[in-house]
Amino acid sequence: MSPHPDVIVIGGGAVGTACARALSIRGTTVLLIDRERTPGEGWRASAGMLAAQVEAEPEDPLLGLTVAGRTFYRENAGLLHERTGIDIGLDECGILQVALTEEAAVAAKAKVAWQRQQAHRADWLSPQEVAEGWPWLASGMGAFWAPEDGVVDPANLVTALRRDAQLAGATIVQDVVGSIESAKGRITGVQGERDRYDAPTVVVAAGAWSGRIAGLPRPLSVEPVRGQMIAFSWPADTPAVVAYGPRCYLLRRGDEMLVGATMEHAGFDPSVTPDATATLIRRASAIHPALRDATPRRAWAGLRPGTPDGLPIIGAEPRLAGLWYATGHGRNGILLAGVTGEMIAQQVRGDAEAADLRVVRPERFWNW
Ligand code: GLY
Repeated sequence: MSPHPDVIVIGGGAVGTACARALSIRGTTVLLIDRERTPGEGWRASAGMLAAQVEAEPEDPLLGLTVAGRTFYRENAGLLHERTGIDIGLDECGILQVALTEEAAVAAKAKVAWQRQQAHRADWLSPQEVAEGWPWLASGMGAFWAPEDGVVDPANLVTALRRDAQLAGATIVQDVVGSIESAKGRITGVQGERDRYDAPTVVVAAGAWSGRIAGLPRPLSVEPVRGQMIAFSWPADTPAVVAYGPRCYLLRRGDEMLVGATMEHAGFDPSVTPDATATLIRRASAIHPALRDATPRRAWAGLRPGTPDGLPIIGAEPRLAGLWYATGHGRNGILLAGVTGEMIAQQVRGDAEAADLRVVRPERFWNW
């Protein structure tokens, strides 16, 4: 291990490994501190959707960033494969969002119009077009279609980012960081359960656990939001699709149909519950009626790092020189991991003018 890394990254999930990789390939010496496998880690539970447009709210301030997040994978999937031998499973297959009510159809048409005004490709599909393209899905009142949205395989993604970071010189240790340490208004390192680590720069990328690190100069407004998921066998002869319905989505991975996900405030409890399984089956069968009587093969849960306004926390801590945050990605952890790594690396190294990051700036919370 380098005894004097330039940067410590706390967290070995999608965002942490992406930050470590982006810094390392630019020549920064990085120590990534990854806690041992912990029940509920967000990336392990994630479906890996790149739903930049489908999950965008009306007038969403994050749309530019989520689209950039998707573009990162388009630009880096081949590179990661070449360098690490790992296929991150990028499939730019498009995502369909079925509207089951007149109200949902009106909202979806408005979303098409607004996203087109921002120069993004989006279409409204009539019920006939949905029925022709996906005869096994409920065609409802029609669907929002984002042809450039897609998926990656989160496990392969994190393994590839991690390996690429190591190839570029990053060191990875397993430890649980309990606190940061500082002197004279500057960060000096972190204290783990096993060891103390020195560095002039620290990036907090510990997902739902970020706010548990002691010594931060403001409370970190990140809390766990549980997402339960279930999986069915993928029906033979049914073409793959990624489809959203009301408060649920389904997609194919391998021979399974993944269905997700709940949004629950249950603390750090990553349990699965029969109620949530029943809710997911009910919601998914609204767009895929054959699921009504199907039995899931398995169920699992992950803890997303949620913030009060649903936007991530990315950038420098103005109250302590050398401290950076890359956390609070909520429903967008996988989608935004790669681009967050780029933003953090560019800003930490001072390589580029920061883009307009006002919506994700850390000091928007607890700014007394
Ligand atoms: N982005 C999907 C989810 O968090 O469930």
